[in-house]
Amino acid sequence: MKDAAPQTIYLSDYTPFGFVVEEVHLTFRLAPTSTRVLSRIKFAPNPDATDKTFFLHGEDLKLIAAKIDGKPADPKVTPEGLTCPVPDKPFVWEAEVEISPQTNTALEGLYMSNGMYCTQCEAEGFRKITYYPDRPDVMSVFTVRIEGPHPVLLSNGNPKDSGDGWAEWRDPWPKPSYLFALVAGDLVNFPGAFTTCSGKDVELNIWIRPGDEGKCAFGMEALKKSMRWDEEVYGREYDLDIFNIVAVDDFNMGAMENKGLNVFNSSAVLASPETSTDMNFERIEAIIAHEYFHNWTGNRITCRDWFQLCLKEGLTVFRDSQFTSDMRSAPVKRISDVIDLRGRQFPEDQGPLSHPVRPESFQEINNFYTATVYEKGAEVIGMLKRLVGDEGYAEALELYFARHDGQACTIEDWLKVFEDVTGRDLTQFKRWYSQSGTPRLKVAEDYSDGTYTLTFTQMTPPTPGQDEKLPQVLPIAVGLLNPNGDEVVKTTLLEMTEAEQSFEFHNLASKPVPSLLRGFSAPVVLDRTASREEQVFLLAHDTDAFNRWEAGRNLARNSLMAMVRDGAAPDQAYLDGLGALLRDDDLDPAFRALMLSGPSQSELAQALFEDGVTPDPDAIWQAKETMADTMAATFRDLLPKLAFEGKVTDAYEPNAEQSGKRALGAAALSLMTRLDGGEAAQKQFDKADNMTLQLSALSQLIQAGKDAEAVQAFHDQWKDDRLVIDKWFGLQIGAAQPDQVVDRAKALSAHPAFDMKNPNRFRAVFGALAMNHAGFHRKDGAGYDLLADWLIKLDAMNPQTTARMCSAFQTWKRYDTDRQAKMKAALERIASQPKLSRDTTEMVSRILG
Ligand code: PHE
Ligand code: ZN
Repeated sequence: MKDAAPQTIYLSDYTPFGFVVEEVHLTFRLAPTSTRVLSRIKFAPNPDATDKTFFLHGEDLKLIAAKIDGKPADPKVTPEGLTCPVPDKPFVWEAEVEISPQTNTALEGLYMSNGMYCTQCEAEGFRKITYYPDRPDVMSVFTVRIEGPHPVLLSNGNPKDSGDGWAEWRDPWPKPSYLFALVAGDLVNFPGAFTTCSGKDVELNIWIRPGDEGKCAFGMEALKKSMRWDEEVYGREYDLDIFNIVAVDDFNMGAMENKGLNVFNSSAVLASPETSTDMNFERIEAIIAHEYFHNWTGNRITCRDWFQLCLKEGLTVFRDSQFTSDMRSAPVKRISDVIDLRGRQFPEDQGPLSHPVRPESFQEINNFYTATVYEKGAEVIGMLKRLVGDEGYAEALELYFARHDGQACTIEDWLKVFEDVTGRDLTQFKRWYSQSGTPRLKVAEDYSDGTYTLTFTQMTPPTPGQDEKLPQVLPIAVGLLNPNGDEVVKTTLLEMTEAEQSFEFHNLASKPVPSLLRGFSAPVVLDRTASREEQVFLLAHDTDAFNRWEAGRNLARNSLMAMVRDGAAPDQAYLDGLGALLRDDDLDPAFRALMLSGPSQSELAQALFEDGVTPDPDAIWQAKETMADTMAATFRDLLPKLAFEGKVTDAYEPNAEQSGKRALGAAALSLMTRLDGGEAAQKQFDKADNMTLQLSALSQLIQAGKDAEAVQAFHDQWKDDRLVIDKWFGLQIGAAQPDQVVDRAKALSAHPAFDMKNPNRFRAVFGALAMNHAGFHRKDGAGYDLLADWLIKLDAMNPQTTARMCSAFQTWKRYDTDRQAKMKAALERIASQPKLSRDTTEMVSRILG
C-alpha cells in the first residue's frame, strides 16, 4: 500500500543517483500468483553524485533473498523500497522477489490480461517488478530470461536464445526501467518486414489473441509508413533487428513505447472495415506512428526526470501530427487538433488542474499525463518551429539527435540546441514551459493614410500557484484581405514579446480585413469582437483554411450564445454563409463536414462563463437542438446533394478522401434525421457494410429515439467483438437525450457484459456519461452521484484510470451554486473514502482547490 500522507516531489530537488548501473540481468519464472523475479545488477559509484545512499525503489514486492557480491546483504525494507549498506566500489546486487500478476488490477507493473502476461512500467511501474533505481536518468543494458509454459515469450531488444519453455532477450541500447517490457502468452503474430534506409532488414510483428488476425493489416501498413517517414523527414533509422507490437485488452492508456516491444491497448491497434470507424483508423495510424517515433524521441533520448515529460511527449505528439498531416489533409488535421486542444486542454488550463507544460511539483506522476503536457507541449514546439523557420528547426533537430543520443535530458538541453543553431535567445520563450494558463490576446486596429496598425494586448489570468504572469512570445500569423476578398498581404509572422505591441502595414489602398492567428499559430484565446459582417466575409474569402473554418465557428458560437442568453433566433447571416460554403463542391468534403460541426456544449458553457453568464446546461442543449433543427430546415433542399457527395461507391478504404466523404454524408444524415424521423438512418443502418456507416446510422437512430430495434440488432451482430461492444455501450449513453443518460448508464453498468476491471469498458460507460454535457449535469445531481459512486468503486482496483476520470469534475466552478454544491459534495464524498489512492487523492484535492 502507498503512503497515507502523500509526499510532494519538486523539480528543484533533482539530484543524480549515487550509482551507475552497468548491466541488468533479469530472470522471470512466471506463475499467476507467485511469479519469481531474479535480478543481477552491476552497480558502480557515480562520480557525479554527492548523495551516496543506496536506495532501490520497490512496491508490493515480497523479498525472498538479497545478496551483494554473492554474500547475503542486509537491506532495510520499507513500503517504498529498500536501503542497504554497500561497498565503495563496483559491486553486484542480486535479489529474488515474488509478485502476483494475477491479482494486479491496477495494470501497472507485471499483470495478466485474458490469460496473458504483460507489463506497463511507465512511469513508475518497474518498482512493482523488482527492486531498482526506478528513475529515467538511470540507464542500462538489459538481458532478460523468461521461463514459462507459453508459446510466445517476448522482451525488449533482439532475441538472444530460446528453448522449450524459455527465451532470452538482449537489448543493446541503454534504457531506463520505464521502457522495460515483457509479454508472455498464447499469442499469434501478424508478420511484416521492413528494410531500413541503410539496407538493414527488420522483422515486424503484431502479436494478438487467436481470432484477431483479420484486424492487423492496417496497423502493419501504418507501422511501415511511420518507419519510412521518420527516415525521410527526420533522418531517423530503426536500430534493432526486430520490432514487436502487442495488443492487450486491459490497458490504462492508448499505448506504450517500450524499446522494441510496443504494447498497445487493443483499441489502438486492431482494426477492420467491418468493426472500426474511419476515426478509429485515423487514430490507430497516429498512435502507431506516435509510439514508433518515441524510439528516437523518448527512448534513444529520454527524460532526466518526470518533470521533463513534455520533452518526449510534446515532441512526439508534434511529430505524429506532422505525420498525419503528410499522410492525410494538413488543414483538416490542424482543425481537428485545435478542436481537441480547446475541448481538452483549454478546460484544464483554465481550471483548478492548470499546470505548466513542465510542472514543477507533483504527488503522483501518473496524474501529469495530461493534455497540457502532450497537446500544449506539442503546440509549444509548433510555435518554436514557426519562429525559427523550417530550416532552423531541421538543423536544431539534427543537433539534438547528434548531441544527446543516449542521454537523459531536460527542456534546457532541448532549447539550447535551438539557441546554438539559430543564435536566438530563448529565455523569454521558455516561459511557455513554466507559465500555466491560456493567454488571452486582445486586438485593436487603426487605419489612416494607407497605414494599417494592429495593436495586440496579451494577458494570462492567474492560475493555481501562479498569481503573476509575464508576457510570452507569441507568433501571430496574419494575412490581410481587401474588401473585394483579394489577399493584399500574404501570411506574415508577427512576433509579439511585449504585454502590448503594435505592428504596421503600409501602402494599403483601403482598410483591410485582417485574418488573425492563421493556422492557430499560438495556443491562445483570441479576444476580438470582430463584427458579424467581417466573420461572414472571412468565411467566404479567407485563403487560410483554418481561419475560414474559424470564422464559421465564431459565427456559430456567437449565435448560440445569443440564443442561450437572450433567446435570440439562429443567425441568418451565418446560415447563409454556411450554405454558400456547403454548396461549393470544390471544397474538400471533410472540410465541409467540419464546417457543419458547431462548438460543443462544454465549449459554449465555458464561453458563457467567461462572458459573465452562468451556463445552464439544459438551455445550451436546447440552443444546439434549435440550431440543428433550423439548419435542417434551411438546408432541406441541399441535403440530398450533400448525401450524394458523401457517398462512396468504391470498395471501402480508410483513407482521407473516402473518410472525408463519409464524414460529410454523416453530417447530412444527422440533419436529415431531424426531417424524416430516422427513415434514412434506418435504411443506412440496414444496408451498412462498414462500421463507419453502421455506427453513424445507429447514432442518429438513438438521437431520434428510434433505437430499440437497432440497438438490439447491433448487439446481436457484434456480441463477440469486445471492441465493437465498447462502442455499443458508449453510444447508447453518448447519443442519448439528456434526461435518459443517467438511467441508461445505470442500466448498462448492470449489463452482464459490463466489466469494470476493463478500462475500455469502464470508460465506454462512464466516460460517455461524463461527456454527455446536459446529461451529466442533470439538475438533480444524479449524474454526479452516479459517477462518484463508480469512481469510488474503481479506485480500489485501478487508481490511475480513476484519477484520470475525476477530471470530469474539473469545470465545477463554472456552474450555478446548486450544481456547484452537488459537484462539490460528490468530490468530497470521494475524498473522504478511507483508503483512497494517492492518485485520486491528489486529483480530487486539486480540483477542490
Ligand atoms: N508514454 C505513452 C505514450 O504517450 C503513454 C503512457 C503513459 C502509457 C503511461 C502508459 C502509461 O505513448
Ligand atoms: Zn507518447
